[in-house]
Amino acid sequence: RHLLTGGVAAAAGAAVALGGDRAARAMVAESESGRADAAGSSIVPFFGAHQAGIATPPQAHAVFIAFDLRDDVDRDGIRRLLVLLTDDAARLTAGRPPLGDQEPELAEHPANLTVTFGFGPRLVERVDPGKVPSWLGPLPSFGIDRLEARWSDGDLMLQLASDDPVTLAHALRMLRKDARAFTTVRWVQPGFRRAHGTEQPGATMRNLFGQLDGTVNPQPGSDDFDRLVWVDDAGWLSAGTSLVLRRIAMDLDAWDELDRPAREQSVGRTLATGAPLTGADEHDEPDLTATNAIGLPVIPAFAHIRRARTGDVRERIFRRAYNYETPEGSAGLLFGSFQADPERQFVPIQRRLDELDLLNVWTTPIGSAVFAVPPGCAEGGFIGESMF
Ligand code: HEM
Repeated sequence: RHLLTGGVAAAAGAAVALGGDRAARAMVAESESGRADAAGSSIVPFFGAHQAGIATPPQAHAVFIAFDLRDDVDRDGIRRLLVLLTDDAARLTAGRPPLGDQEPELAEHPANLTVTFGFGPRLVERVDPGKVPSWLGPLPSFGIDRLEARWSDGDLMLQLASDDPVTLAHALRMLRKDARAFTTVRWVQPGFRRAHGTEQPGATMRNLFGQLDGTVNPQPGSDDFDRLVWVDDAGWLSAGTSLVLRRIAMDLDAWDELDRPAREQSVGRTLATGAPLTGADEHDEPDLTATNAIGLPVIPAFAHIRRARTGDVRERIFRRAYNYETPEGSAGLLFGSFQADPERQFVPIQRRLDELDLLNVWTTPIGSAVFAVPPGCAEGGFIGESMF
């Protein structure tokens, strides 16, 4: 397809040279629609050992939605709900309309759409009280928390993500519609990264403080990632994981008052390249022992990366964050992290950051939820089946 696009562009160039202005424009338009179609038709497989949307390179747009089960929805009802939503998600992510879709054209371009299911404690308890993982429930409370119920908890969470916002809106509507008889909506949290195609694939995202966010992260596909993210036991969550979703407000106006060196010190990395203050490139290893001319650490004691870092390799997490902003003018980070065991991995990091992290001056957690993320399923199965 690239060869084809190049060929069309070259032909268009030749047409311009010949004075065929209109023909050239038509050819360029054709080549561009070819490219747009290539992005729109990209499919992330829905079926597999693990759910999609975790190791998947983060798409440009996401929306997290949490539902609460209606009181009369029992174990059988939950099974019916999961079968229905699995079918919808399998079709939508493949670029096919779900059953009863009255706007089927809106499902035509999945643009890497993924739908990832997570379960809160009440859902698992209603299916089988013996199957609730010990860590599934609200996190311990932290001194920095200013949590609001309207952004916290929930029985069933869906993380939808796509490189196209229209596709995402349509998928969200279809899933909401089918969940309606069983649930009420608890919260909806849209998030975004740079638009598809703006940067090279794989570039670290920038958050709304302008920082490169996600530099030190286990690489999907690596042994490291597999060990840290996927549950590896004989239980129903095997090959699944957990999601910690924290809505963290960022005070952009107060951040504006800081000069650049102060901003860089608060994290321990430069804004331009994300390099540690002791290095030159983004992926250079920070030197936490380096001191400056007057004997102070180059990466200060309060710097976010010093505090978030751990010597315990089993304690690391996989971050997959999105930016958010609201029409009222508040903004922040939908901090999502996947890890096999939030108690062992997420909580110790958050405890250290709670004790000391200069970023806390400008950031406030206002929502928090933990979900059990079941393994993937095969065609004909449904997400969550191992729980029944
Ligand atoms: C690293 C920003 C919240 C855990 C970083 C980095 C930035 C950053 C700029 C350096 C680049 C990178 O490696 O990604 C933020 C902002 C936050 C926030 C703006 C809140 C709005 C959190 C939270 C946690 C966390 C809540 C976990 C409890 C980490 C970890 C690293 C990191 C583990 C990598 C540390 C290392 O170098 O080993 N964060 N972060 N962050 N952050 Fe955060």
